[in-house]
Amino acid sequence: MSEYSALPVPPMSIRFDQGAGTLSPEGPTLTRRMSDLEGLFRDSEAWAAAVADGDPIVYSVVSSPVPEIDRELPQSITTIQPGTTAGELWMTKGHQHPNHQGEIYLCISGHGGLLMFDGTETRWVDMTPGTIGYMPPGWAHRSINVGDEPYSFLAVYPGGAGHDYGWVLEHGMGQRVLAGADGLDFVNYVEG
Ligand code: 6PG
Ligand code: NI
Repeated sequence: MSEYSALPVPPMSIRFDQGAGTLSPEGPTLTRRMSDLEGLFRDSEAWAAAVADGDPIVYSVVSSPVPEIDRELPQSITTIQPGTTAGELWMTKGHQHPNHQGEIYLCISGHGGLLMFDGTETRWVDMTPGTIGYMPPGWAHRSINVGDEPYSFLAVYPGGAGHDYGWVLEHGMGQRVLAGADGLDFVNYVEG
């Protein structure tokens, strides 16, 4: 018997209800409205106008009961609504894992992208159902809905990785993703 077999959650299966957007059994659920994304959109006036105009839900994150502690392997499903703010596609806040560890995303539905930044270089992974995106340790990551319907993906990450949101506010993400006339426009994070 492993010395870890008495940890908080037993072996289990977890069901995802795509229509209801729920996990069962469930853990914490997070709802991010436009007001939660302060300082992240290029056009801060357009951001403030969207906050004043109903403060829409931009994305939600449902988690399984697996806790975010060392040696555990938590999972969550993020659903980003379709939309743009001054042309910038709706996105997650983005973060760095301070205890640098890898992470995977599996696209469940919709069309999205995974923007990664290591402080110098950016990488883009197109995400359609069935795609697994891999984030190596040290790469900050942000998800973006590039389609017309909600974009959902499963995230699996080490429980001791931690989440640093200040890193993105300080360093940016290298690039931004705008909805162009003929597809996506990638612009520099600051000048764009
Ligand atoms: C994680 C995952 C993922 C992420 C959500 C919301 O490390 O937990 O990357 O679950 O947290 O997609 O994105 P933000 O955490 O950047 O708001
Ligand atoms: Ni992460």
